[in-house]
Amino acid sequence: MNVKNARDELLKKLFEAQGNPVSGQEFAEEYGLSRTAIWKYIKEFEEDGYEIASIKKKGYVLIDIPDIVNAANIRRFLQTKTYGTTIDYYKSCDSTQNLAHDFAQAGALDGTLIISEEQTAGKGRLSRPWNSTAHKGIWMSLIIRPSLMPQQAPQMTLVAAVAIVRAIENVSGIEATIKWPNDIMINGKKMTGILTELQSEPDRVKAIILGIGMNVNHEEEDFPKELRDIATSLKIACGKKIDRAKLIAEILGFLELYTKMYEKHGFGPIKLLWESYSNTAGKQIRAVMLNETIEGTALGISEDGLLELKLDDGTVRGIYSADIVIKD
Ligand code: BTN
Repeated sequence: MNVKNARDELLKKLFEAQGNPVSGQEFAEEYGLSRTAIWKYIKEFEEDGYEIASIKKKGYVLIDIPDIVNAANIRRFLQTKTYGTTIDYYKSCDSTQNLAHDFAQAGALDGTLIISEEQTAGKGRLSRPWNSTAHKGIWMSLIIRPSLMPQQAPQMTLVAAVAIVRAIENVSGIEATIKWPNDIMINGKKMTGILTELQSEPDRVKAIILGIGMNVNHEEEDFPKELRDIATSLKIACGKKIDRAKLIAEILGFLELYTKMYEKHGFGPIKLLWESYSNTAGKQIRAVMLNETIEGTALGISEDGLLELKLDDGTVRGIYSADIVIKD
């Protein structure tokens, strides 16, 4: 067992002991480490914010867990087979999406999660800046390697949207809605954005980098003024602080489930789920695209994940990508 694993194991043991002492001596013997090495780990845990009591002749007791989204805290809740097996945690980085691209190029395994407490250059769709306040939200990128054709990759945004809505409901009881293609909305304001990017060969997906940015424990004043009318957080919506580590574990669970479903059974079942959570179908909308703006009634999504829009002249247009304004 390497040093990092022994350190993780010790923290896991402290969690599992649920307030009972874990003997440093026994752990040291079991893992062939010195007692000083154990003491050093405990100091590191304390520096990360874990509150640990040392009881003479008995061992160490975990008293309190800090609100951080490191691997150990996420693993307390994680029930996946593959997603999150590797978790790379940062206190700060420019963008988890950039890091994930580099790691995917270098061969990172399916399900590798890159997560940071803060991003200094978070990016949204169309390279727009993404506000990523420290310790308030979930800023993460998941590297997945599903057996899909490159043209199926955009539908992963819709797969992710369904997974996120289910996870939000399980953790908070809030019923969020999906605004095509990549926004999760609560009370008409954006709570989550999804950025799906691709590394591909002509006939095969090499990796999909699923970037997820969620406003979780923000208060109104944590948002810059210009975002306050259009952005919200889960805490604002449900009135209580949310355990971000638990929410992440739920998201990974649903993502694993629905990605498998998509690989095995195609887009049909996901389309049904997506439509049941969407707030777009049936609405009068304006679709602002790079070189044109059109208006019409949103009918739903096609088998390929395109938004189908019925124009005033009765024709139906499939839209690949646009900013959507819901008019009623
Ligand atoms: C959007 O709605 O425009 C998509 C926003 C995606 C933001 C996330 S935060 C984690 C990951 N890292 C980034 O730089 N962007 C994505």
